[in-house]
Amino acid sequence: MTPHTRRAALAAALALSASLAHAADDPIKVGFMLPYSGTYAALGTAIENGFKLYVDEQGGKLGGREVAYYKVDDESNPAKAPENASRLIKRDQVDVLVGTVHSGVAMALTKAAKDADTTLLVTNAGADAITGPMCGLGVFRTSFSNWQPAYAMGPVAAKKGHKTAVTITWKYAAGDEAVAGFREGFEKSGGKVVKDLSLPFPNVEFQPLLTEIAALKPDMVFTFFAGGGAVKFVQDYAAAGLNKSIPLYGSGFLTDGTLQAQGPSAQGLLTTLHYADGLDTPRDNAFRAAYGKAHPNMAPDVYAVQGYDAAQLLQVGLAAVNGDVSRKAAMRQAMRGAAIDSPRGRFTLSKAGNPVQDIYLRQVDGLQNKAIEVAARQLADPARGCRL
Ligand code: PHB
Repeated sequence: MTPHTRRAALAAALALSASLAHAADDPIKVGFMLPYSGTYAALGTAIENGFKLYVDEQGGKLGGREVAYYKVDDESNPAKAPENASRLIKRDQVDVLVGTVHSGVAMALTKAAKDADTTLLVTNAGADAITGPMCGLGVFRTSFSNWQPAYAMGPVAAKKGHKTAVTITWKYAAGDEAVAGFREGFEKSGGKVVKDLSLPFPNVEFQPLLTEIAALKPDMVFTFFAGGGAVKFVQDYAAAGLNKSIPLYGSGFLTDGTLQAQGPSAQGLLTTLHYADGLDTPRDNAFRAAYGKAHPNMAPDVYAVQGYDAAQLLQVGLAAVNGDVSRKAAMRQAMRGAAIDSPRGRFTLSKAGNPVQDIYLRQVDGLQNKAIEVAARQLADPARGCRL
C-alpha cells in the first residue's frame, strides 16, 4: 500500500465507523399506515395507542434505540393505498411499516412493502392472502386471518342446533372471507348457509337487507361488520325486532370497541374472537390497567392488543440484532420464531407469519365482551397458497 492509498483507506474506515455510530444513535423509524378518518378511525387510533404503550413501557426504546413515528391516514381507501405506502417507504424512508385495518388497503401495502423489502407488521387487516399467496419472509401479522374467528363460529352455531344461516356483510375481502370461513365451519358441522347478503363498503343502508332476512326466516344470521358500521348494524337489527326472532352471531369485531355506542341493542350477542374481556390473567390485567391509565376514556379492545403485540414482536426482532435494522434476515428470523406473551394469551407465528392462537366465544354483558369459553384452541390459519 502506498502512503496515499493507506491514508485513503483510513479515511474511508473512519467515515464508515462514524456513519455506523451515527446510525446506532438514530431512532428506529416506524411508519404507521392506519385509518384516522372514516368508519374505522377509532380502530386505527387504538392500534397506535397499543403500539406506543408497549414502547413507553420499554422506556421509549426498542432494541436499545429510540423510536420515531411517521404517520399516514390511509382513510381505509384501497385506491389511495399505493401512494400512501410510498409516502412512508420512499419519502420518509421508514425502517418498519405498521398497518393497517382494511383488508384491501393492507393487500396494497403488503405489495409495496415486499417490493421495497421493508419489514411489515400487519396490525389488524385479516386478508387471507397476506399470509397466503402474498406471504413473505418480511411480512408478519399480529392480528388474525379473516378465516380464523369466523371459522371458529361455525361449530359453535351448529352445536346450538341451528341448521340454516343467512350471512350479511360488506362486499370486500374481509366480509367475503369471514363469510367463507363461517360457511366452512358451519357446513362441516352439518349446517347450511342458505343466502349471502352484502352491500358495498362502507355503506350502512341495511334496511332492505333486514327486510329480506325477515322474509327468509333462517335459524340464525352470521355477520361481519366493524367500527362505525357495526354500531349502526347492531342498532338497526334490534330496531327491526329481528333480535327477538333470529339470533345474530358474528366475528367479534361486531361488538369490540363499539359497546358504548351500541348500548342495549348489543346485549347478549355471541361472537368469536382472539381477545375477550374478563380473561383475568395477570398479563391481561396488567395490560388493561396500563392502557386505562394512559387512556382514561378508552376501553382496551382487540385493536389495542394487536398494536401492543406488534411492538412486542418488533422488540424481539430488534433485540436479536442489537437494534441494527440493516440485519434484516436475522431480525426476521427471530421474529418468525417468537412466542408472544400477549394480553390475549400466548401465541406463536405460523410459517406464513400469522398468529396461531386461541379463539374465544364471548357474550355481550353490559359494556363487556365476556369470555365464555375457548371455541378453538391454538387455531392456525390454513395459509392456503403460501409457499414459504
Ligand atoms: C379488514 O378489513 O380486514 C377488517 C377491518 C375491520 C375489522 C376486522 C377486519 O375489525
